[in-house]
Amino acid sequence: MPDVTLTAEQAAVFDAIEHTREHVFVTGRAGTGKSTLLTHLNFHTEKQIVICAPTGVAALNVGGQTIHSLFRLPIGVIADHALEQSDAVKKLLNAMDTLVIDEVSMVNADLMDAMDRSLRQARQRRAEPFGGVQVVLFGDPYQLAPVPGDLDERRYFSDTYESMWFFDAKVWQEASLRIFELGEVHRQHDDTFKHMLNAVRHGQVTAEIAGALNATGARRPLPEHGAITLATRNDTVTRINRTHLHRLPGQSIANPAEVNGEFGGRAFPADERLELKIGAQVMFLRNDSAVRGDGPRWVNGTIGTVTSLKREVRVEVDGVEHEVEPATWEKYKYSWDPVQKRLEKDVVAEFTQFPLRLAWAVTIHKAQGASYDTAIVDLGQRVFSPGQTYVALSRLTSLEGLYLERPLRPSDIIVDRNVERFMSGAEREIGTGT
Ligand SMILES: Nc1ncnc2c1ncn2[C@@H]1O[C@H](COP(=O)(O)OP(=O)(O)OP(=O)(O)O)[C@@H](O)[C@H]1O
Ligand SMILES: [Mg+2]
Repeated sequence: MPDVTLTAEQAAVFDAIEHTREHVFVTGRAGTGKSTLLTHLNFHTEKQIVICAPTGVAALNVGGQTIHSLFRLPIGVIADHALEQSDAVKKLLNAMDTLVIDEVSMVNADLMDAMDRSLRQARQRRAEPFGGVQVVLFGDPYQLAPVPGDLDERRYFSDTYESMWFFDAKVWQEASLRIFELGEVHRQHDDTFKHMLNAVRHGQVTAEIAGALNATGARRPLPEHGAITLATRNDTVTRINRTHLHRLPGQSIANPAEVNGEFGGRAFPADERLELKIGAQVMFLRNDSAVRGDGPRWVNGTIGTVTSLKREVRVEVDGVEHEVEPATWEKYKYSWDPVQKRLEKDVVAEFTQFPLRLAWAVTIHKAQGASYDTAIVDLGQRVFSPGQTYVALSRLTSLEGLYLERPLRPSDIIVDRNVERFMSGAEREIGTGT
């Protein structure tokens, strides 16, 4: 695991988490190092922490468990239904000092309140928010929104909460949340581009900014090779990848994943059946596990080309060929070890596959968290969720690498007004770095 040196502001947030028991929300623009800080916390904290995330893939990415499986919650709205807790769950919920939730922007208010109630119940501290557990939230509400449920669920939310967002959960009427906003962007280095991305984030794109983005992004031929398309829709992605794979000469070879244990649903971190051909454009789904002196050979999101499928899989990245070994994703489950008197994290399922995905195209949703030097952004007919355009554009490390399938339109930029209400009203502490 490559370990970066934290900046002053990241270190200040780490200290606040490590040396207080206050609830903390770590937020910040795309590329400010939220995920980096979470990884650092995971390895360096002295506390008994439990890491969880709202979706299976997000949980796998941070070596945590899904919220639903950790708390054994039923699917759908939980409201004030009784929460059943086995002894094992009670022990586990009693053992943790700190609950870390990644991708918290996808957690809805009902789920937030259910976690609060579950912890109070298990710890028999009913008067205390989260039963006395410190809660640490990571995420950027300007990027991913909670998934709206069916009509009944939406009605429940509009009758019960100001919005679906986690920050409108009832628990925050009793508990206070310290907000730390990381200020330094590490993914991009050019101030003009950073300024443009910020305007997209806040829905404040002026004609001048739109003109500049379109002048660079949309007024030049799309690259033939080496660029990934970031698209809004799954079917667009599948079509682009199929077409390109089909066009390549030669036979394709399919590698089935090895799955041990129960993954539940479709929460696989990579293709169950990975079909590749020599010449296929692929993206790495994991950081290089064998980091040598000259740094990692690839990171999550690196684009390359398959050069061999005989006996071994070889992928060329920036003119250098590497042998790629299958990788194993581990699905974890926390439990309380009564003998050692500590939290244990056990592997309950494993998924083994080459850490590669066809990468002529990927959905914007799946590109969340990644960085690209060159990409074609395809917003299709229309953008349908808040933050989507911001997530897409902020994956680029520079404006020079940005290509637009069609020019940006004002309707592509959707900012959720609840996010604006919360973020503009929220008092935040900024690390000392900027
Ligand atoms: N302290 C640091 N020193 C050097 N590089 C850093 C540091 N923190 C983050 N980075 C780099 O900046 C890039 C973005 O970081 P990271 O992915 O953690 O940001 P993020 O806030 O999670 O972004 P997103 O919101 O897009 O998921 C990564 O390439 C990461 O390695
Ligand atoms: Mg991230």
